[in-house]
Amino acid sequence: MTRLWGGRFKKQADALVEEFHSSLSFDRRLYRYDIRGSIAHARMLGRTGIIRAQEAEALVRGLETVLAELDAGRVALSPRDDEDIHSLVERLLVARVGDVGKKLHTARSRNDQVALDLRMYLKHEIVGLRELLTELQRTLLDLAERHTETLMPGYTHLQRAQPVSLAHHLLAYVEMFHRDDGRLADCYRRTDVMPLGAGALAGTVFPIDREFTAAELGFAALAENSLDAVADRDFAVEFCAAAALIMVHLSRFCEELVLWSSAEFGFVEMDDAFATGSSMMPQKKNPDMAELIRGKSGRVFGDLQALLTMLKGLPLAYNKDLQEDKEALFDAVDTVKKCLTVFTPMVRALEFRTAAMDRAARGGFTNATDLADYLVQRGVPFREAHEIVGRVVLYCLEHGKTLEELTMEEYRRFAPGVGEDVFAAVATENCLAARKVRGGPAPATVRDAITRARARL
Ligand code: ARG
Repeated sequence: MTRLWGGRFKKQADALVEEFHSSLSFDRRLYRYDIRGSIAHARMLGRTGIIRAQEAEALVRGLETVLAELDAGRVALSPRDDEDIHSLVERLLVARVGDVGKKLHTARSRNDQVALDLRMYLKHEIVGLRELLTELQRTLLDLAERHTETLMPGYTHLQRAQPVSLAHHLLAYVEMFHRDDGRLADCYRRTDVMPLGAGALAGTVFPIDREFTAAELGFAALAENSLDAVADRDFAVEFCAAAALIMVHLSRFCEELVLWSSAEFGFVEMDDAFATGSSMMPQKKNPDMAELIRGKSGRVFGDLQALLTMLKGLPLAYNKDLQEDKEALFDAVDTVKKCLTVFTPMVRALEFRTAAMDRAARGGFTNATDLADYLVQRGVPFREAHEIVGRVVLYCLEHGKTLEELTMEEYRRFAPGVGEDVFAAVATENCLAARKVRGGPAPATVRDAITRARARL
């Protein structure tokens, strides 16, 4: 193995050790960022006169060649040959351009280099994830637009509570994914900070131009403290926290799809392309994708936990523990990306059984609150109205009736003030339409909410 630090050592590392501490098998995915970062660094070294202009040019050309070779898959990557992606790129560079390649690492350490690579990688991934979240929100808004009048029961304790619409239910998820997007945008700002110049931990004696390097690489800010610059992984933690919440939201939605696609609910039919069968039971159609997404949420929570635990006991500044940041971060990125990529088309292809939803919305006294509100509007204090309607419901349950089916005479037995207009008050459509409060499920209100949600996309 070529080592960037062999001088002080009398013998090679144990073969087991080389294998154990190499990060090449996973940090290879950073090679593009590593090389782009090195190109900017080489240009900066040339501009500031720390190396000669022709030397900087030779480095840039060499790095571009290495990049092309890696892109083409022409380089065999083995943890036995290189400790990490930074060592690999430098070895390839020296092989291409000769001794001048050995000047690249002037005024730089792998500690600030790896922090740079990781930030560049994450910035790129955040942009992609935000696009996926936008596409998902669009899909939900398109669906919602078609279902502002589709009645369904709203639940508390998984018991039918009050009527809402399918559109209103879908918009709840639009809010969640909108907040997720905001969290990613926020995390991006703190990832967009350029650590080069921190060196190993204490900066550098060379007259480098950090502003130039940051501008070359499109960073908005410079890390202000060299110790923090190499020790900080808060941005990775923040990302995993944001990713964990995305997974929470996907998982809750998936749980509902699993419930809704059961015969017991029958609210939704999964498209065949997003469901699977059973090897033994020929009749089965299972919502496996929804279950898998629900299941994968645990991985991302684990990634977050791994990062927090890795960081909590680390003295400043760099410690090799930090190498463990990558697999957790990569796994969180990959998992959320894959889940969103499957989830959005799966939702788009859902077939909603609106008749079953409608039946369920009307069935279970979801209009009882509206009857109480009706009495309140006729001067009965709410607590009393609540009590009266409770007794009405009990009566209905005992006589196998719904609120819509009671006679005027029956109503008057419980509340003398009830008029003929009570039937309109408990009609489920009216219960929905009456909830016009901002944020509520009335069809007109929901249409406004859809317009606002589209505008902020
Ligand atoms: N592979 C290392 C990592 O991922 C790069 C930094 C190595 N620095 C060091 N001082 N050993 O963190």
